[in-house]
Amino acid sequence: MEPEGNFVTTRIVILWRLFLIRLLTLQLTFALAPTNALPGCPQRCGDVEIPYPFGIGPSCSREGFTLNCTFSDGTYKPFLNNIEFLNISFLLGQARIANGVSSQCYNSKNHSLTYNNWQMNLAASSPYRFSSTLNKFTTVGCDTLAYIAISDTAHRYRSGCVSVCEDKESLTNGSCSGIGCCQTAIPKGIGYYAVRFDDNFNSSDTYWFSPCGYAVLVEEGAFEFSTSYVTTGALRGRKLPLVLDWAVRNKTCRQARRNTTSYACVSDNSECVDSGNGPGYLCNCSKGYQGNPYLPHGCRDIDECANKNGSSCSGVCHNTQGGYWCSCPPGTHGNPYNGTCYQNQNQKLPLAVKLATGIGISLLLILIIFLCIHIICEKRKLIKVKEKNFQEHGGKLLLEEIGKQQGLGFKIFTEEELEQATNKFHRNNILGHGGYGTVYKGILKDNRVVAIKKAKIIGERQKKEFGKEMLILSQINHKNIVKLLGCCLQVEVPILVYEYVSNGTLFQLIHRNSHGIHLSLEARLRIALESAEALAYLHSLASPPIIHGDIKSSNILLDDHFTAKVSDFGASMLAPRDEAQFVTLVQGTCGYLDPEYLQTYQLTTKSDVYSFGVVLLELITGKKALYFEGNEEETNLSSNFLSAMKENRFGELLDDRIKNDEEMERISEIAQLAKACLNVKGEERPLMKEVAEELDRLRKMKQHPWDQHSNPTEIESLLSNPSSYCGAEITSHYSLEKKAVLNIESGR
Ligand SMILES: *[C@@H]1O[C@H](CO)[C@@H](O)[C@H](O)[C@H]1NC(C)=O
Ligand SMILES: *[C@@H]1O[C@H](CO)[C@@H](O)[C@H](O)[C@H]1NC(C)=O
Ligand SMILES: *[C@@H]1O[C@H](CO)[C@@H](O)[C@H](O)[C@H]1NC(C)=O
Ligand SMILES: *[C@@H]1O[C@H](CO)[C@@H](O)[C@H](O)[C@H]1NC(C)=O
Repeated sequence: MEPEGNFVTTRIVILWRLFLIRLLTLQLTFALAPTNALPGCPQRCGDVEIPYPFGIGPSCSREGFTLNCTFSDGTYKPFLNNIEFLNISFLLGQARIANGVSSQCYNSKNHSLTYNNWQMNLAASSPYRFSSTLNKFTTVGCDTLAYIAISDTAHRYRSGCVSVCEDKESLTNGSCSGIGCCQTAIPKGIGYYAVRFDDNFNSSDTYWFSPCGYAVLVEEGAFEFSTSYVTTGALRGRKLPLVLDWAVRNKTCRQARRNTTSYACVSDNSECVDSGNGPGYLCNCSKGYQGNPYLPHGCRDIDECANKNGSSCSGVCHNTQGGYWCSCPPGTHGNPYNGTCYQNQNQKLPLAVKLATGIGISLLLILIIFLCIHIICEKRKLIKVKEKNFQEHGGKLLLEEIGKQQGLGFKIFTEEELEQATNKFHRNNILGHGGYGTVYKGILKDNRVVAIKKAKIIGERQKKEFGKEMLILSQINHKNIVKLLGCCLQVEVPILVYEYVSNGTLFQLIHRNSHGIHLSLEARLRIALESAEALAYLHSLASPPIIHGDIKSSNILLDDHFTAKVSDFGASMLAPRDEAQFVTLVQGTCGYLDPEYLQTYQLTTKSDVYSFGVVLLELITGKKALYFEGNEEETNLSSNFLSAMKENRFGELLDDRIKNDEEMERISEIAQLAKACLNVKGEERPLMKEVAEELDRLRKMKQHPWDQHSNPTEIESLLSNPSSYCGAEITSHYSLEKKAVLNIESGR
């Protein structure tokens, strides 16, 4: 007993294992098979696959495509109402249903007829239409005339088919051509039909071998005529396949695409195709894809390379999304699509050469990459430096303020703009060197001519306040002051951009006199007054006052009308405030420099007054601030003047061109004013405002009516003795000279 019991248990274990293995493999196949139903929905009903948009129950199907899975005749079958679905194809938009055969039988005993008439009624709003190409209305019998009657709202149609035969022998298997069998086509677009038999064709003559006639709408390919259909009751009560064309009703592709929520072709790489039977559309996967286009991501790439029939590639096949490409195997060339890949002749390079070229190319690539990185880093560094300079120079504050005060006419230039304007600060564009830097002539993009001042040095403290000071300077607006147009903060030292004044400097007018113009006392007084007013304005504009710091005749510019324009006023803030930097400055400005400043390094408004005093001296003496007397050493005009004043011999110093007995009184008053300005003690010098008032008074002194004609005399005398003032070609410049003299008198 024991062994037998053992045997039974081992058998059970083996069976159990087998069952488990089967279960596993079954699950595996389920998992691998691409699903055509919605997730969580049954894929099939009985033997019939149910692909979406079809589905069992409303939640598993698109509206109108719902089927029931009903148990009938021992298996599960899908039904729509009482119509059984045999199979469904979502690729072709077709479905097969089981359609009943209608019959008419003659009862010889009581000469009566029995009918079994089917009708098929699919609603016009349903997705289904009878396929007009695959189905035929078919009658079978030896004395049978059946009508197919179609009537719905859109169609009214009736057609018929008659099948007649003499005897059994005239029938042939497979031939449906009127003898015992008749077929006729049906129109498109219908989903309803009914069968009617004609009573007068009632088999009453042939009942002894063929008592019944049959009629059915059937898939032509699925119906093969058999003589037994006539001679026996083989068709009676049978169901035959009928092909339905289904589609997503009832919009065209164009209409359907507009409503994205109801659009059925949801898969990517899917396309819409208008239905060929009735209104509506179908979905297809695009070329190179397969699957169910009605499901999200239902269309999957076809791996053409995995399937030799899918591609015409005899070389190396490469699958891509939606396609594939084909290459010849390494070392060959030719047309891989056609199977014509040939061995390369010169491909037999030694390995060492290949290796060497490979390494060479890689090294080159690495080098290039490093170079690029280096260049990028350098660029970044430069940008950072510029940014740092900008911030250090108070650029942020300045930008904010400029933003607040619109229409200031003040601009922050970039370094590139200024480089472009001055041809990269080329030597040829240099207008002059000042104590604090170099001035370049520049032409901006909008063709404005400007003077660009590049400072030499700048201290840490000044750097921080640069932006603030720029803001103050930008607000200066006086007819006798050169306008500050903007600045640039991106560079190591700040750059200022001024309006360009065309007619040279006062220095040139007095000492070089390239214009060949006689400068009358009147004109000299006017220029002095204009300059003094400008300085007084600067001193009064802000608190603490703006100090020019570098007043000299070469910083007083003259415009087209010989109006004085004080320039370089921004320079004072660049002025060094410690001993070390001081030396560099003094060189440029000697002769004008306030002696007090030399001791304190502290610029005050009175420093400007002192320097202005020297300019006044230049105007009345026609001598430079530092000049050579004969062959002697350099003489300082101011100290020379002061000692001459003391010794009452200051008349010696006066400019011959204005020496005039009538004017002596005014000239000595100017000399007194200059003396006051040159006072060693800053405190005792007059204010700039007072200097301007005094000059104005002196100027008005002359404007007596009896003096009106003195100007013409002056011009006459100038013209009668031109050689003393200008070159030999004076006659040709006759009118020009005359005009210049008039201009310079009036300052217009
Ligand atoms: C659909 O059914 C017909 C007849 O029942 C059969 O011949 C055909 O192979 C079936 N097609 C599919 C895709 O199952
Ligand atoms: C679509 O069908 C509805 C009824 O289901 C009908 O009212 C409508 O006119 C049809 N539209 C088209 C374009 O056939
Ligand atoms: C059968 O058809 C014949 C004419 O072919 C007709 O005379 C006869 O009445 C029909 N029989 C029935 C039962 O309708
Ligand atoms: C294959 O070769 C034939 C000629 O032999 C040529 O006409 C055809 O274009 C080729 N096919 C491809 C895909 O290149």
